Amino acid sequence: METDSDIKTTPRGFHCTLCKVNLPNMPSLEQHVKGKKHKTLSSVRATRKTQEEHSVFVSGIKPEISQTDIAEYFEQFGPISNVIMDKDKGVFAIVQFDETDSVESTLSCIEHRMKGLKLRVKPREKRAFKLIDKKTCDPQQVLERLKPQLCQQATVDAQMLHVVQQFQLGENEKKARGLVVQLLQEVFVEFFPDSQILPFGSSVNTFGIHNCDLDLFLDLENTKVFQARAKSTIEQTGEGMSDDGRSEDSILSDIDLSTASPVEILELVAAILRRCVPSVHKVNVVSSARLPVVKFHHRKLNLQGDITINNRLAVRNTRFLQLCTGKEDRLRPLVYTIRYWAKQKQLAGNPGGAGSLLNNYALTLLVIFYLQNCEPAVLHTVNQLRDMACEEEECVIESWDCTFPSQSIAIPPSENTQDLCSLLAGFFSFYAKFDFASSVISVREGRALPITDFLSQNKEEEAMQEEKPSKTQHHGPKLGALNLLDPFELTHNVAGNLSERSQRSFQRECQEADKYCHCLQYQRKSTKGKSWGLVRLFTPHGDVSHTKTEQLTISVPFKSVALPEVLRNQLHMAGDGFRLLWFQKVCSAVEGVFQTVLRCHLTPTDAVFGEESTVSVPEEMDTSAASLNTSINTSQPGADPPSAAAVGVKRSLSSSSDTSVSPQGKKPRLAKRGRPDLPHWTCVLKHKVWAGRRKVRRELIKDTDSRPEGSCVELESKVTAHIMEKEPELKEPMEFKVWPQMVGGTESTKAVLKFEPTSDKAGVFQDFYHFLEAFLLKMVDTLLEKQAQST
Ligand code: UTP
Repeated sequence: METDSDIKTTPRGFHCTLCKVNLPNMPSLEQHVKGKKHKTLSSVRATRKTQEEHSVFVSGIKPEISQTDIAEYFEQFGPISNVIMDKDKGVFAIVQFDETDSVESTLSCIEHRMKGLKLRVKPREKRAFKLIDKKTCDPQQVLERLKPQLCQQATVDAQMLHVVQQFQLGENEKKARGLVVQLLQEVFVEFFPDSQILPFGSSVNTFGIHNCDLDLFLDLENTKVFQARAKSTIEQTGEGMSDDGRSEDSILSDIDLSTASPVEILELVAAILRRCVPSVHKVNVVSSARLPVVKFHHRKLNLQGDITINNRLAVRNTRFLQLCTGKEDRLRPLVYTIRYWAKQKQLAGNPGGAGSLLNNYALTLLVIFYLQNCEPAVLHTVNQLRDMACEEEECVIESWDCTFPSQSIAIPPSENTQDLCSLLAGFFSFYAKFDFASSVISVREGRALPITDFLSQNKEEEAMQEEKPSKTQHHGPKLGALNLLDPFELTHNVAGNLSERSQRSFQRECQEADKYCHCLQYQRKSTKGKSWGLVRLFTPHGDVSHTKTEQLTISVPFKSVALPEVLRNQLHMAGDGFRLLWFQKVCSAVEGVFQTVLRCHLTPTDAVFGEESTVSVPEEMDTSAASLNTSINTSQPGADPPSAAAVGVKRSLSSSSDTSVSPQGKKPRLAKRGRPDLPHWTCVLKHKVWAGRRKVRRELIKDTDSRPEGSCVELESKVTAHIMEKEPELKEPMEFKVWPQMVGGTESTKAVLKFEPTSDKAGVFQDFYHFLEAFLLKMVDTLLEKQAQST
């Protein structure tokens, strides 16, 4: 039976390799094999096979050669059933014969000449028939097609322009989108008199790619005015009609736009789409999004559309992007290249809109910000653009200043002459070193603002709001792993959805790309036909192991949002010195975890500065020092007395910090193994205090309290004490060293703790380290909170 080879037995039943489905048992397998899908695919495969066996592949033709020319020439080898030409370029054709013998005689002919052309004729490649899974296979196929095209280009600049050409929306696609907009406009105006439907986003912002969404803003401002007027006419005349009679047919008798919620209005929009717009289906209102939206699909154009209301700012920021590309030719190739790179590396382009990756708008703003920071700048800041605008161009939306010149001619050209190749490399290098954790990116000002400016903002504004509630009151941005302010809506962090992990991946990929861009392979075309330039940048890699360099290090990231309010305020007050202050607090908390919670015997090697010391950290510097004086309460029952250094012997940071920069300009690495000159703790543990903690914790709290692990210092200390009391000591105490180091200024601010076991006869350090990876971070947060409460 033909299907036999398609069916594989699996531990859970069967798998049909043709249809790519799993079948749990024999009856469902039999049903599947008799079903429509399996039968259709089997028959398509059989037809393809016959076609392959009956046809030849012909290349070397020119665009002016017609299908008839080809058919006439090849008829000499036998009757022809079909000629398929590649329509776009006319450089190859597939000639299908009625008989397989004709294929043989065609291939046995030594030379094929037609109309002065020398044709190359080959047998058809035998390809295994595969069901194409659009979601998973396409990107790979796109890349496979793109690779040779890119390799053929002469320079990286040419490669980047080629990327634009390959991905940008074609004229026909733009026209089709225009027609959908027109159709929707015609329909909506019937129901919402004087309304306007305006496209924004990738369809019109000059960065659109094939199949990108069609983002639309339904502007109901004029409709509201119309409705208000109609209402007052009714009140005055007592008639149920407006002066022009249009409200009779409109939906406005059903809804009051001035009081209806966005979701109510969108439900109505959805109903109109479902009932009145041809080819539109899959209509859904998504009310949970930041801005509620109606999603729909246009069947004929295979186009995903989103309609929002209350989104005038998006139309304006789309206009801003258009202005930027109108002024600066290098922006589009850079954005297309970086968007594709980010997509390949799974850093951006949340399918369906939601997700923890960068959205395309955020990515574009990151490119713009980088270009504002080039030397000399490629793009102006939004504030500079505002100052270039004339009075008539003033624009305020929802109380945000959205003014900029309407024509790019009003903007002076940039003095920056860098080519695309070096600008692209510059992008990676810029963000490879960027301190995301402690900065807020402002495209408005064209500079990174210190996060401390925003830390106490939210609270202050909340208080003001309580005192004097006003409609236009703006809250501070939602701070997160990457803080990127919208150019106009200055309280909106466009990357607020990004997870820590996504932010780390983004920076790590920038670091990888930065390294690659320094190689000859990036800049110079391979003479041996090897991959070069963009090709390697676009090649997705499996999750490359980065653990090597991170081995035995635990990083405590600077997460501004998660910090206790008191500490946030202290950091805010510390201004530029906030990193050092935070680092001291973290070191103090880490010491508390080892000493108080896990009951290690702790010896701080090297005395260091105390919290009150006024050491300033130069910018762009790694700081390696431990504030080994603890401010947490160590008077737990049975706690060892604080060690000598725990009361804060001082030493200047500069003498102990690892600030040297290597001759290659590379940043210094973490403390090297066993480097005795850097401040560190030596810890000794006599018990396996990490083993069985959960069970002990459960017993201690006896279900009366559901506190999660690491959320309470007293409880965790008790758990340790309990284990020490009940469990035997290790035969030989385990000793390890911990080097704390502060990283920040040129990369994301974090405290990096490097561990090194110095005596581990029982072979338990790895277990302990794995336990610490999660436990330490939770406990540090808890201790920071506790420290904050006690100040
Ligand atoms: P997208 O992130 O979808 O960008 O935002 P895009 O350029 O349209 O790319 P595709 O659709 O993913 O291919 C669409 C538009 O929504 C507005 C912007 O106008 C953006 O161009 N937007 C998006 C905002 O105003 N703020 C945001 O935080 C996100």
